[in-house]
Amino acid sequence: MLDELSSIQSDALAAIESIDSESSLEEFRIHYLGKKGRLTATAAGMRDVAKEDKREIGQKLNEVRTTITGLIDTRTAQLDAQKDAKAVAGIDPTLPARSLPQGAGHPLSQMLNRAVDTLHQLGFAIAEGPEIEDEWHCFDALNTPEDHPARNEKDTFYFDSGKLLRTHTSTVQVRTMEGAKTLPVRIIAPGSAFRRDEIDATHSISFTQLEGLYVAEEVSLADLKGTLEYFFHSIFGKDTELRFRPHFFPFTEPSFEIDIKLHTAGKSARWIEIAGCGMVDPAVFEAIHSQRKDDLFSPDQVSGFAFGLGIDRLAMIQHGIPDLRLFSENDLRFLNQFA
Ligand code: DAH
Repeated sequence: MLDELSSIQSDALAAIESIDSESSLEEFRIHYLGKKGRLTATAAGMRDVAKEDKREIGQKLNEVRTTITGLIDTRTAQLDAQKDAKAVAGIDPTLPARSLPQGAGHPLSQMLNRAVDTLHQLGFAIAEGPEIEDEWHCFDALNTPEDHPARNEKDTFYFDSGKLLRTHTSTVQVRTMEGAKTLPVRIIAPGSAFRRDEIDATHSISFTQLEGLYVAEEVSLADLKGTLEYFFHSIFGKDTELRFRPHFFPFTEPSFEIDIKLHTAGKSARWIEIAGCGMVDPAVFEAIHSQRKDDLFSPDQVSGFAFGLGIDRLAMIQHGIPDLRLFSENDLRFLNQFA
């Protein structure tokens, strides 16, 4: 039996040399190690071996099996390596990868993201509301009376149902306060607003606004000013000059428009308006109070500030874009400049 094992081993060592494919390697395995293979058959003879020879023959049997298994493993690895080499033949893996066309944010999205990031840092969370609104959330709750020009059919898109496309994102102030569980409320609402306007370089029927609202027990004008100065300095640089100019909005008292000083090469510097803001008018709190079953927004207990700005306007200023229509025409020659 020892002789038989030795000859199996030497036959295997000789045969492996000519194995050059996965299928012939499999045949080789079956021939030696398969159920009816030579080694398996020889191993079956172990039970007839005399007791004193069992140890020696058993060891030899193991040695031959290990040798053959080793041969198969080595050959498998060699065949795999050959296959890999063939697959990449003629390819230079050191060449730089081909570049894929990459997308980039639209200039309005880029500005919106910056604005949102900056206000997030100050603790403002995003709030949302529908674009199709009712008059209560768009006007009445915001202290805007029936005869206000903004409510005119000439200025606003109404549906037959009496609903309308929101004319500003200030609607989200109202919805947030109606649903708030606790104070403070510190939210921003980015989104689209719609007005019936003649379309030209600075007017559009839809634009992107960002509304902000902070309500707590004691909010002051200094909080408003500090927040918005920080915001505009973050967006346009800390040397940017700002001014708060008294103005009127139905939903804030006092109210301001914020102007930024714009320096354009070859022109004298000029102030241009970039946002509206003010201290929330007690009439707005009163409207919210009347809708709620508790006193969370009772006008004599809370105070707050609000602001609203046009993202389009900020992006135009930042990049010196002269015409609002460029944002919606999707001309890649324009958009690629911001990629
Ligand atoms: N809603 C105003 C508009 O669309 C912008 C605005 C002004 C919002 C003053 C405010 C504010 O919250 O306090 O023109």
